[in-house]
Amino acid sequence: MVTLAADWLGVMAKPCPLERVWHYGRMNEIPEEKKMSSSKIDSPFVVNRIKDNPFISGGLRVYREYRDLGLAEATGGKVHAQIIRTTKPCPEGGSGMHYHDLDFQMVFCLKGRSTVWFEGQGEQNFEAGDSWVQPPGIKHNVLYYSEDYEVMEITLPAEYETVQVKE
Ligand SMILES: [Fe+2]
Repeated sequence: MVTLAADWLGVMAKPCPLERVWHYGRMNEIPEEKKMSSSKIDSPFVVNRIKDNPFISGGLRVYREYRDLGLAEATGGKVHAQIIRTTKPCPEGGSGMHYHDLDFQMVFCLKGRSTVWFEGQGEQNFEAGDSWVQPPGIKHNVLYYSEDYEVMEITLPAEYETVQVKE
């Protein structure tokens, strides 16, 4: 019994995976002046079903299809989330150098691979399971993506301007 108890305590003393990603744990490491106010984003309970919300073309890029997850409507335009998938091969030279005029942008790679050049960071290779945050206004160019490339993108606010930059 003593051994079992010691093992149990030993396991409990180690940080469990949940603790490592639990935002309160990380929040304690952020300097007080960098913490944001506690202003909440009001949203109702939202369910977005694939059968009711299929992928559609006509978004920012002609070589992509987009599936809106309904967050813009739910949050009064504060947040947008969408799934973006590839429909055509990567254009020569990639997406072209551009930036997005927004407050926050996160991308999570669901399928496939890509290579993206970021201002000040150089080329970054991504694969399914990887995620990244693009600071507001960072110039970037999607240089390569695989045929099955698919990502989820979250932005604040929901509507923003994309600016192509001359290289
Ligand atoms: Fe972009």
